[in-house]
Amino acid sequence: MAFDLAKVLADRHGENFELHSEFMNPQMARVLRTEGFDRFYVRGEGCYLYDDRGERYLDMLSGFGVYALGRSHPGIKAALHQALDLDLPNMVQIFDCALLPGLLAEALVGRAHDGIRRAFFSNSGAEAIETAIKFAHYATKRPRIVYASHAFHGLTTGATALNGGAEFKKRFGPFIPTNEVPFGDIDALRRQLRRGDVAAFIVEPIQGKGVNMAPAEYWREVQEVCRRYKTLLVADEVQTGLGRTGRFFCHEHWGLEPDIITVAKALSGGYVPVAATLFTEKVFMSVFSSMDRAMVHSSTFGRNQLAMVAGLATLDAIDEEGIVERARATGESFTAGFAPLLERYEMFHGVRGLGLMIGLEFGPPDTPRLRRRWNAIERIRPALFSQAIVVPLFHRHRILTQVAADSTNVIRLLPPLVAGATEVDAFVAALDDVLASAHKGPGLFFEFGRTMAKGALPGGKRRPIRHDGSATEVTANGSGPAVNGHHVESAAETTASRA
Ligand SMILES: Cc1ncc(COP(=O)(O)O)c(C=O)c1O
Repeated sequence: MAFDLAKVLADRHGENFELHSEFMNPQMARVLRTEGFDRFYVRGEGCYLYDDRGERYLDMLSGFGVYALGRSHPGIKAALHQALDLDLPNMVQIFDCALLPGLLAEALVGRAHDGIRRAFFSNSGAEAIETAIKFAHYATKRPRIVYASHAFHGLTTGATALNGGAEFKKRFGPFIPTNEVPFGDIDALRRQLRRGDVAAFIVEPIQGKGVNMAPAEYWREVQEVCRRYKTLLVADEVQTGLGRTGRFFCHEHWGLEPDIITVAKALSGGYVPVAATLFTEKVFMSVFSSMDRAMVHSSTFGRNQLAMVAGLATLDAIDEEGIVERARATGESFTAGFAPLLERYEMFHGVRGLGLMIGLEFGPPDTPRLRRRWNAIERIRPALFSQAIVVPLFHRHRILTQVAADSTNVIRLLPPLVAGATEVDAFVAALDDVLASAHKGPGLFFEFGRTMAKGALPGGKRRPIRHDGSATEVTANGSGPAVNGHHVESAAETTASRA
């Protein structure tokens, strides 16, 4: 009998957390339960998710930027159905130069600055970075890569070597030779490049972890020192690319002309993993320099046609729906919506980012009574205040947000780029409500503590897993995370750590 997806979904409904606990990463299931984030989502459409209880959630993270066009975009869905129905001759590999990869390469190159001439396709942001690292080494014959503090470029080994967080690296090495420079510190970068052995400076135009920005002057100098010391400038646009910041590529805000650009996430249309590394002619052709080098770098699924269709349909929708301009305008609406809240709430200190890559900054209040409350929560763990906002945004208002980075009192918002006035108003009203509670009395923090404690309690009987038809009783948190600060803290840390 043919595989019946609807039947599988109906038969195994609600077993998701138990399956993850038993066969996958059990810590992730524990983290989500501790924060009370465990849901069974059954549908996604536009800016919203729906769970099996019929509740609707406003997704202000959009799968870390994957759902730039919203979930279940009709145009992309239709294009993929069409591709399936056409029985395209997919991945003929060494016997074919297929049309669709060529068209997507042309479309991406056409959107980049004039120096960008070539594209290489792979399957994830990290793979796009690996490609950039390899090509930079080859083109320059230099060993070192420089990256910025707080950077996140993925978690394959090359990309992990460029991670600005020690916890991601510890005991996963040895790594390729790299050096970290503080993000925004041009002198530190210059000191590294002056040594003449740096192949590339790989950098996010706006850092996902923390939503950190550097001034225009910094970027102008980055371009200049990279050119002077013949170090390739690699703009990692995996998160910032395709309109997120109100320009197609974020580096356009500062007139940069990187030698290599990486994109992924949004290019998938939310359906088919796809990434691209874009190159200048010189860098790309140094690697593919002769016929016997035609296959020195490749990936089996890299140019698969569903991914190419998803990419082409995504670019088409971005143009058709004026997504880049919309992201810019909606970003301004958010800023305008936050302005009165910044006036009203002492613990809300600022808003940073560009377009729909937004960081909400929180900090200590001046009023002594509020200061005591702030200190009480921050003493448990730095930046726990932000988590105490994220949790009620979810539980009271069913809105998905995230603490932007460990020990940073910044909440990150990456809404779908199709968000509009409805979503702006809903989010601003929800934030107003939660911040009002935080400033009124200790109630919000008790509510937060109760949620975390409830989630960390050894649970009652959960739905059994039916692997082979036989019923197995599974107790949630079989090993039973204790209700103590450690579990609450580690849950908060984990949900903050992924870029
Ligand atoms: C800037 C940046 N680069 C690279 C990556 C890695 O992408 P992936 O998770 O698809 O490997 C990410 C993922 O969050 C990212 O934000």
